[in-house]
Amino acid sequence: MAEDFKISAGTKEEKYRELQLMIRSVTAGESDPIANMANVASMLHETFGFWWTGFYRVIDGELVLGPFQGPLACTRIQKGRGVCGTAWARGETIIVPDVNAFPGHIACSTKSRSEIVVPIFHDLDVIAVLDIDSQHFGTFDEVDQQYLEQIVHDLRLP
Ligand code: SME
Repeated sequence: MAEDFKISAGTKEEKYRELQLMIRSVTAGESDPIANMANVASMLHETFGFWWTGFYRVIDGELVLGPFQGPLACTRIQKGRGVCGTAWARGETIIVPDVNAFPGHIACSTKSRSEIVVPIFHDLDVIAVLDIDSQHFGTFDEVDQQYLEQIVHDLRLP
């Protein structure tokens, strides 16, 4: 199953719909949150060819790097700092069409040009964020937001 994973045809919506079903089936039988975050990062990254796809978890009051695909990344981010820390502080998804225009953006990689960060809730608390970077400007829109919010919600992280 895992080796055969590939979604390459269709519109962005169609890819997300198919991906969402596959993610549900891959994560349904696994209770370990790190294992599930790792596979979700991989499946999103492989499907859309993003530059960086991964999770930061809230641990002892800061965001700590979790499972990801892509180049080396900064390991800790404070609340309210960068796009990740801002999405955490606001408790809402942030879409950044041009990272150079986002005050305080943390450039883990100079090749990143646009970004989306989706907070992940347990009850009312943000417990992690999903961060995706693209090498192109304006990659992310409300379609990405809608599906990514559903995908992380489906994960039911503890
Ligand atoms: N750009 C993010 C930092 C994380 S890296 O992109 C992987 C930010 O501004 O929070």
